[in-house]
Amino acid sequence: MALNTDKIRADFPILNSGKPPVYFDNACMTLRPQQVIDKICEYYVEYPGCAGRSLHSMARMVTENYNGARENVQHFFNAGDSSEIIFTRNTTEAINVVSRGMNFKKDDVVLTTDREHNSNLVPWLVRSERDGIKHKVVESNVDNTFDMARFEDMMTRDVKLVSMVHTSNLDGYTIPAEKIIKIAHDYGALVMLDGAQSAPHKKIDIKKLDVDFFACSGHKMLGPSGIGMLYGKKELLSDLNPHNVGGDTVIDTTYSGYKLSGLPERFEAGLQDYAGAIGFSAAVDYVRGIGIDNISRHELNLNKLMTLGIKDISGLDIIGPGDASLRGGILSFSVEGISPHDIVMLLDQSSSIMMRSGAHCVHSWFNAHKLPNGSARASVYIYNTKDEVKVFIEALGKVVDFFRKN
Ligand code: ALA
Repeated sequence: MALNTDKIRADFPILNSGKPPVYFDNACMTLRPQQVIDKICEYYVEYPGCAGRSLHSMARMVTENYNGARENVQHFFNAGDSSEIIFTRNTTEAINVVSRGMNFKKDDVVLTTDREHNSNLVPWLVRSERDGIKHKVVESNVDNTFDMARFEDMMTRDVKLVSMVHTSNLDGYTIPAEKIIKIAHDYGALVMLDGAQSAPHKKIDIKKLDVDFFACSGHKMLGPSGIGMLYGKKELLSDLNPHNVGGDTVIDTTYSGYKLSGLPERFEAGLQDYAGAIGFSAAVDYVRGIGIDNISRHELNLNKLMTLGIKDISGLDIIGPGDASLRGGILSFSVEGISPHDIVMLLDQSSSIMMRSGAHCVHSWFNAHKLPNGSARASVYIYNTKDEVKVFIEALGKVVDFFRKN
């Protein structure tokens, strides 16, 4: 079903105030609808207490809403049990819960792709330095698609974890996760997916994927910033060492010992971002109401239009597969001789188009490809329109002309 963007836009305060921006920085952070803002306010106005501790009625209300948020998120991703959903600050923290908590031995191998966000690269580099694990990188095909043959060649019994970006924030490409998970499991390896860019745009069915760990953030799917989640299979979460410990992570202590709580409490130390979790749940409701398949289709259509509209700009090179249908809602590009930072600054100044430029926290890929300035990146979501795409195409043409002439 085609999205009713007029109706959707009416829900987003920033798109209804003064001159609305052409907001094309959704891979970084999406806007928030009034429904999410209201839910966050509801917590602070109506029951601003803490969950799982005090027994008075306000605290019980927080507990009920916080647990409800967890169950809602669990059902949205079709996870088996709500105790398998750990609320974290974001995807980065979720990945760190796994990277710091796993019991690796020296020379155990962790495989990633060559296009990881720093959040799924640095944790493994740190563990290599500290504990002597081996971090190996599966290089992509020349067109940036996943090289399945190379991956299969690199799979051995030494690989203990395959930790990969599901949909890349670099170019919007999604790896064939189901097949990767199947192969990794055949070798006895676990699989973690960095779902920061897939969860907002694609149907994620955790049971069907049979993924071991899945991490994502609220702020990329209409939720508040500072809230994310880690899904983990129960028995695997139980095997992880919690590194952030203290209040609520234990059920009892003496001066010389402690007894850890069960799941998920042992990974949620101290008072939590209750408003964030409740807001995340409201965002999940909003996304569910629109329909994730409708969202995928909408952004793909916009990306196809953008890709077609800019193809004749001289010196423009699209990062990732040329075929827009393989790039979800992301169009990342460089223009020969022009800094991506200059491009996005001028697009903002001239036409209020908001995009991101630089390495998008994937410095390793840009360094390997000798593109020190990175790229300019347009990323769309549910409230973006064909008219905005037209504005972008026209403005980009003018910006490039301006720099060519000056
Ligand atoms: N990972 C986010 C981005 O790509 C911050 O912009």
